[in-house]
Amino acid sequence: MSNVFYMKHPLIKHKITKLRDEKTGTNEFRSLVEEIAMLMGYEALADLETENVPVKTPIEESKEPVIAGRKMAIVPILRAGLGMVSGMLALVPSAKVGHIGMYRDEETHIPHEYYCKLPPHIDERLIVVVDPMLATGGSLIDAVDAIKKRGGKNIKCMCIIAAPEGVEKFTEAHPDVQLYIGNLDRCLNENAYICPGLGDAGDRIFGTK
Ligand code: PRP
Ligand code: URA
Repeated sequence: MSNVFYMKHPLIKHKITKLRDEKTGTNEFRSLVEEIAMLMGYEALADLETENVPVKTPIEESKEPVIAGRKMAIVPILRAGLGMVSGMLALVPSAKVGHIGMYRDEETHIPHEYYCKLPPHIDERLIVVVDPMLATGGSLIDAVDAIKKRGGKNIKCMCIIAAPEGVEKFTEAHPDVQLYIGNLDRCLNENAYICPGLGDAGDRIFGTK
């Protein structure tokens, strides 16, 4: 499990608690997801390489660091992952955005892919897959499979809330992928929902319930 990173920052924990509250409405829920994505992205991108470039300050010429030319792709898993995109783009405005459509069958909980469009030169990019929920792990495993099948190599994933069952399954399937988790919850219930969780992330972001 060495490729799994659990967030410790109290601001992330505070905002996740507000997300969980059933009284939190759609508008606030969306803002919280965006803010948490930005805080988690800050942690997840802490190992980005930099290179020194010349810069002329009002005082003198110097060589100072900027992010090295590696291209980035943010890939939300539809629908709920869409809520995390703006937070990541606030950190890296030049990133391209791909999309993977997945839905879980309500009875079997098995994910089904219905859409996949990734930016060009995906093999050269750092790819950050975002989805607020990692429950059984099926959706994220299949999304990373789909990205690898299309040439993606350098992949990180960010999930706001995860169940232990999903983390274990994901790390078995993709031991090479770094996984960033906002909070590890207790377990899954009989409907494969995360406990205590926050309910259905897609419905709460888009107000479809
Ligand atoms: C949710 C969530 C994840 C998936 C997690 O999406 O956003 O993609 O479930 O569950 P898993 O780990 O058991 O696969 P859902 O299928 O409800 O689709 P939606 O985002 O369109 O509502
Ligand atoms: N998908 C969600 O949106 N919530 C869960 O608890 C599990 C899967």
